[in-house]
Amino acid sequence: MIVQTPPMGWNTWNTFGEHINEQLIRESVDIFVKLGLREAGYRYVVIDDCWSERERDPKTDEILPSKEKFPNGMKAVADYVHEKGLKFGMYSCAGVRTCANYPGSFGHEFLDAKTFARWGVDFLKYDYCLKAFSDKAPYLYRRMGQALRTCGRDILFSACNWGTEDVWSWIRTTGASMYRSTGDIFDNFQSMKNIAMGQLPKMCFSAPNCFNDMDMLTVGMFGNGNVGSSGCTYEEYVMQFSAWCLWGAPIMLGCDLRKMTPEIAKLVTNRDLIAINQDPLVAQPYCIEPGAMGSDLVTVARILEGGDLAVGLFNFSENDRWTTILLEWLGLPYESKLRLEMHDLLSGETTMSGRDEFSVPIPKHSVRMYRCKLVPAV
Ligand code: GLA
Repeated sequence: MIVQTPPMGWNTWNTFGEHINEQLIRESVDIFVKLGLREAGYRYVVIDDCWSERERDPKTDEILPSKEKFPNGMKAVADYVHEKGLKFGMYSCAGVRTCANYPGSFGHEFLDAKTFARWGVDFLKYDYCLKAFSDKAPYLYRRMGQALRTCGRDILFSACNWGTEDVWSWIRTTGASMYRSTGDIFDNFQSMKNIAMGQLPKMCFSAPNCFNDMDMLTVGMFGNGNVGSSGCTYEEYVMQFSAWCLWGAPIMLGCDLRKMTPEIAKLVTNRDLIAINQDPLVAQPYCIEPGAMGSDLVTVARILEGGDLAVGLFNFSENDRWTTILLEWLGLPYESKLRLEMHDLLSGETTMSGRDEFSVPIPKHSVRMYRCKLVPAV
């Protein structure tokens, strides 16, 4: 399967945890479409952990959907998702049990992949709990990778071993199209900051066909639900959404879509931000001064197809700050005779940089996101 740009969708875990069922998925799919998420590029509706019975079928060994939560089986859910023009994702685990203690796929990889294919699954998130110490991650992920490749259906493989065991050095050998490069997210500023900043040295590992997955977003949760924690402010969600877009991570929403506020809906369907995430060049983002790694004022830039440049200024610190960027840090020395026409993707305003620099105030816990055109300086 060729996956040219980061996958986009919605996943049940962050808000609903084990409280999932067919009705919730149907309602979420309906609102997914109503909110314009499909038009904005979101495709995958993913059911995370806790969807199955506690034990496999004693006769066939097959994994069984919970009768209580999914009385019509998973094929019926997949059909509903497909009818709406979306793709259907599910979850399993490389160990014998999942992280929430449901049957895992170890020793049943080929059987499970066939079962998922029969149900019409298009995406499999594959977790890493309850596996034997002797079983190394590359071995476990290659088993499911091969099972999916031979199951008769195109199923996107989403690996989730939380960035352990130098996963970036071998994950492409498994056929995974995305892989978790971080631990679990919680809905608070510190968790989001740790994940965003923790990715800075790892951005060179993310590229077409296998993207660094920074976990499902908490944008719009406001402290509610399974990983609710203390919640974030709207501005902090703007930072989160901007970082995930600019870093080139999969955009898997995790809030209750049915309760999404209009301003969050506007944020997560911001075409300009999504265009950066989905830019066809898929260039590696890079950190520039003064956002040197380790500072709480982070500036990340990225070349875009067609010659534009994306620049994001993130103030993760506890103080309002000014930041000054020298154009030469972006590869544009004075003798290039170029400056930047800077389109602010959040406010819609356009400003011009100087020939050698631009300076911007950034309140604490906020971000400026620009798409810049290179224009003559004279
Ligand atoms: C792990 C994963 C989470 C979620 C849970 C489910 O913690 O990292 O994203 O899938 O398991 O139990």
